[in-house]
Amino acid sequence: MPSESERIGGENLRIDDLWFSYGGKLSIYEGLNLDVRPGEFLGVIGPSGCGKTTLLNLLAGFYEPEEGAVTLRGQPIKPEDPHLGYVFQQPTLFPWLSAIENVEFGLRMQGMGEAERRERAQHYFNLVGLMGFEDYLIVRLSGGMQQRVNLARALAMEPTLLLMDEPFGALDAITRETMNDELLRIWDTLGQTVLFITHDIDEAIYLSDRICVLSRPPGGIFRMLDSELPRPRHGPTTRTGERFWGYKKSLINDIAEVTAQRPTSEEEIALLKRRKKIEESD
Ligand SMILES: Nc1ncnc2c1ncn2[C@@H]1O[C@H](COP(=O)(O)OP(=O)(O)OP(=O)(O)O)[C@@H](O)[C@H]1O
Ligand SMILES: [Mg+2]
Repeated sequence: MPSESERIGGENLRIDDLWFSYGGKLSIYEGLNLDVRPGEFLGVIGPSGCGKTTLLNLLAGFYEPEEGAVTLRGQPIKPEDPHLGYVFQQPTLFPWLSAIENVEFGLRMQGMGEAERRERAQHYFNLVGLMGFEDYLIVRLSGGMQQRVNLARALAMEPTLLLMDEPFGALDAITRETMNDELLRIWDTLGQTVLFITHDIDEAIYLSDRICVLSRPPGGIFRMLDSELPRPRHGPTTRTGERFWGYKKSLINDIAEVTAQRPTSEEEIALLKRRKKIEESD
């Protein structure tokens, strides 16, 4: 069991009546609402182009909502919020720094002293299973190891909200499954709120407490699936259980339905929006 002192905990993330479009043309969200519980692991899936990364950028405060609010602990989110951590699909590591120096980077930017930041970085470096590779340059690490450095770098900031955008998408299936288990072990220890975006239905089911299926823009949430899979999850048992297959079937159908609704051009999107407005005024 983790010691209480290791536990960072998570905080409530809320999205209220969020509207967002790119330059007023392509409307992505029209009145999105989402409430993520403290310490919850929320998976977000949806077909390519449905607005997953846009959502993450809004949650990270990189984009401003046109209307509505995104709040953490009841306060509007700002990109410089120290409670936020991000892990993107492609590790954005500095090739001229060693692996551990990459993990220390954000702490150095925060002005943390050398001894303290090395100790903190080493702690998370060990937690992701990289002991012994501290002095390696990034080019000498495998893709999976680079993604571990990326994860350790985000964790070292001790965020209470961890935003992850297809972080293991570029890894092979076996490494991805190992990383899924590592992530769950770390989350179990630290207890942050996690929002995890993925294309992969199995990955979403394996990791999450709830799974949010996004519609095509500007549809918002198509379905919210509450998972009753017991924890701790265990690859061979969890992935082959009946419940897992039940969720998988249901999500495959959801994704097929969302994909089939796909508008193919801006004209079609405009048409759908006009139709929606007419229906609402009826
Ligand atoms: N900076 C931008 N300017 C204009 N349109 C954008 C911009 N970024 C994304 N889009 C459009 O917004 C829509 C949603 O994009 P987004 O990147 O959020 O999708 P996604 O669900 O993350 O897709 P993927 O699974 O392929 O990563 C797409 O139609 C995309 O073309
Ligand atoms: Mg994306």
